[in-house]
Amino acid sequence: MVLVDPQEQGGHPFMEVKEMAVVPAWRRKGVARALLASALDAVVADGADDVRPCTVEQFRTRAIDLYASVGFRRFKDFPRYRKPMPD
Ligand SMILES: CC(C)(COP(=O)(O)OP(=O)(O)OC[C@H]1O[C@@H](n2cnc3c(N)ncnc32)[C@H](O)[C@@H]1OP(=O)(O)O)[C@@H](O)C(=O)NCCC(=O)NCCS
Repeated sequence: MVLVDPQEQGGHPFMEVKEMAVVPAWRRKGVARALLASALDAVVADGADDVRPCTVEQFRTRAIDLYASVGFRRFKDFPRYRKPMPD
């Protein structure tokens, strides 16, 4: 599945790729790339000129490589913080 949602920042509208997932048994067969290409075609046909996925570089399934492979470029990095919680 791919979920693309309209967003706005400072008066500027853009489409956000909010969810992207393929069931494990069907992974590495090009399903995500095909779904994403189809979603991009649909939103561009609808007038979108700014589409943004947000991902985590360390994801083992390398969504970042998927996005790069369809032409997305790194735009901003957001630091993540972790703190061990007391038992
Ligand atoms: C990320 C995910 C959607 C990819 O789905 P998929 O159908 O397997 O992806 P594709 O087969 O279209 O692969 C596209 C590219 O992504 C990268 N990729 C996908 N899975 C990968 C893996 N396990 N290891 C390394 N690279 C991977 C590769 O660059 C791949 O291209 P290639 O096969 O030509 O090398 C899927 O692994 C998933 O559901 N992961 C868990 C949820 C998730 O992380 N979603 C993204 C949130 S931002």
